[in-house]
Amino acid sequence: MLLSNNSLAVNEKGNLTIGNCDTTELAKEFGTPLYVVDETVLRNNCRKFDSSMKAYYGKGLVIYASKALNCMEVCRVVADEGLGLDVASGGELYTALKSGFPAEKIYFHGNNKTEDELVYAVKSKIGRIIVDNPTELARLDKIAAELSEIPKIMFRIKPGIDAHTHDFVKTGQIDSKFGFALENGEAFEAVKLTKDMKHLELVGLHCHIGSQIFDIDPFILAAEVMLNFYLKIKNELGMEFTDLNLGGGFGIKYTDQDDPKEYNIFMEKVSAVVKGFCEKENLLMPFICIEPGRSIIAPAGITLYTVGAVKEIENVKNYILIDGGMGDNPRYALYKSAYTALLANKAGVAADYTATIAGRCCESGDLIAENIQIQTPAEGDILAVLATGAYNYSMSSNYNRFPRPPIVMVKDGKARVVVKRETYEDIIRNDI
Ligand code: LLP
Repeated sequence: MLLSNNSLAVNEKGNLTIGNCDTTELAKEFGTPLYVVDETVLRNNCRKFDSSMKAYYGKGLVIYASKALNCMEVCRVVADEGLGLDVASGGELYTALKSGFPAEKIYFHGNNKTEDELVYAVKSKIGRIIVDNPTELARLDKIAAELSEIPKIMFRIKPGIDAHTHDFVKTGQIDSKFGFALENGEAFEAVKLTKDMKHLELVGLHCHIGSQIFDIDPFILAAEVMLNFYLKIKNELGMEFTDLNLGGGFGIKYTDQDDPKEYNIFMEKVSAVVKGFCEKENLLMPFICIEPGRSIIAPAGITLYTVGAVKEIENVKNYILIDGGMGDNPRYALYKSAYTALLANKAGVAADYTATIAGRCCESGDLIAENIQIQTPAEGDILAVLATGAYNYSMSSNYNRFPRPPIVMVKDGKARVVVKRETYEDIIRNDI
């Protein structure tokens, strides 16, 4: 049950609480729509991954994939927990550096990094640049030479694994736009090329097979494919890598139908495979990185909305119309992602009403959930959508020129704004 994740509860008034804060009070104080992130859950998830890495493998780094939710305060908390950071753009890199995130623990991804972004990354002396394709490799080599730097790089590899997840979030198979292919020799040729590149240090390879994956087998398979490639490179090119980055993608519980495996099971199995392979084949045991995004931040977040109206179309459908929607959470519109929603001010009451939650963008597809069971709604109720910490704020837009909601971080009954609500002035800030 999602309500029992140690963060959410129902108080004596029958209201939903998060981090010991009454959500109806949060809605009153900060307004709606409102993103709320429980700092304790965020920290606990960082620690869970970190201690699992230490317990089962030892030599490694957990890197928070900040595309899931990147803002300065989240970067600060993640840095404080000792994790690394995956950034996927100059903007995410800028946010991280401005927050004081240690540059050497930043990993820069992306399938088409611009010249400006690469210059910025090299000058900032970040930990690793994960190169996506031969053109980018040449571009980075030239930049590094011009700046007289030798950045540490990795290659993103498509290990040819088809993880069972939504088509839009699959990335490991050969037709993916991300990375170098193994099957056609592209990756091998690129590795060979770096032998003569004086300004780039190739320290290892990276793969990421997709997102919201429940099954552990595809991760194990990907690790095996990567290690076999390491062996081929050692045997045929005489090169040995120090690093191996296995990406993220661990699934979380959005509804009671979801059944993610304990993360420890993944770490235990993958550690055994890597250690076993390296021992058997006499390969250097690599420093391992994993890059969880969603599984660290999604369970820490909820979104609060105010019900503006209830539209009952007799014998057809009941709509609950909220003051947010696809602008702050586009995931149902994009992927039909399922969410758990409830009326925060009626959390102690049975969910005996069937409704579709609709936003207020000029789009029929602006929905958050369809035909879900919920408490009987009325104007003024506070709707809570759970597990919205990942890919909500980070994928939000100003469609219809709705200002983006703020993010409030809660901890032990206290709340603080960490991202301010956008204003109409913000909306026209860059208009001339
Ligand atoms: N590493 C790399 C290189 C990635 O591309 C991603 C996610 C991650 C790590 C983190 O994956 P996670 O642990 O969060 O699953 N917008 C989609 C998800 C896109 C994921 C993109 N890459 C959604 O809302 O479901």
